[in-house]
Amino acid sequence: MNADRFDAWTESLLERHLRELTLREVGRALKQLTQDYVQQRHRLAGGALEGRGKRAAFALYYGTRHFLLVREVLKRLAPPTGPDLPILDLGCGTGVAGAAWALETGPGARVTGYDTMTWAIDEARRTYRDLGVRGGALKQDIARLRWPDGPLAVMAAFTVNELADTERAKLRQRLLDNAAGGGRTLIVEPLARPITRAWWNDWAGAFTRAGGRADEWHFDLPLPERIHVMGKAAGLNPRELGARTLWLNGTG
Ligand SMILES: C[S@@+](CC[C@H](N)C(=O)[O-])C[C@H]1O[C@@H](n2cnc3c(N)ncnc32)[C@H](O)[C@@H]1O
Repeated sequence: MNADRFDAWTESLLERHLRELTLREVGRALKQLTQDYVQQRHRLAGGALEGRGKRAAFALYYGTRHFLLVREVLKRLAPPTGPDLPILDLGCGTGVAGAAWALETGPGARVTGYDTMTWAIDEARRTYRDLGVRGGALKQDIARLRWPDGPLAVMAAFTVNELADTERAKLRQRLLDNAAGGGRTLIVEPLARPITRAWWNDWAGAFTRAGGRADEWHFDLPLPERIHVMGKAAGLNPRELGARTLWLNGTG
């Protein structure tokens, strides 16, 4: 993807979300959202994103960061390019992670995002359109997803920690089966241990035994200036980007 397209996407995000809110207001909402979500572990699907300010903060700050983060991780994991497998983005939020994978895959890649939040689905559709990604987003609980046939490229960024234990266990098996059939999976979660304590080691063990890998990443990446300023105003460190990932590339 060329830099112009990324710039146009973030400009359009800023223009839309700052139409009725100031940068300061969104900065305040970002601070609150970060406290609720990151520090107190309220689930996004459980109401942490109520209110225009918090949604704007999520779309602008976390959306942009998650896009850049997933793109950097994929550059290093170097999955096969070419539109061979349909991409599924579980808990797609504003669509950024699946879009990043589609763009790294190359022309023709197609992504379907799933989320339970209506506003996120609308945002995801715009993200795909603005970034020139083929795909769509559907309102769908992952727990009740009717999985498409065949090997799939499955992405779940900052989502697995939001699932109930039984759903998470079912998903893990589904992803291992997908890899055994030639599919691949990228799981992205925060570096903070408490968020994934209950299940990370179990998943990492299962993925590595199946031929995958578990990594921790630390990047220093610039954000667009106004989004950087918003992060600073919220007391965050916008340049620091980190995550842990599980990667499994099945051989079929
Ligand atoms: C932290 S957000 C991450 C969004 C996006 N993947 C990203 O990287 O920016 C987690 C998302 O998972 C969604 N989610 C949580 N549980 C879900 C479920 N059971 N089915 C579908 N979506 C779910 C939430 O609504 C939320 O949009």
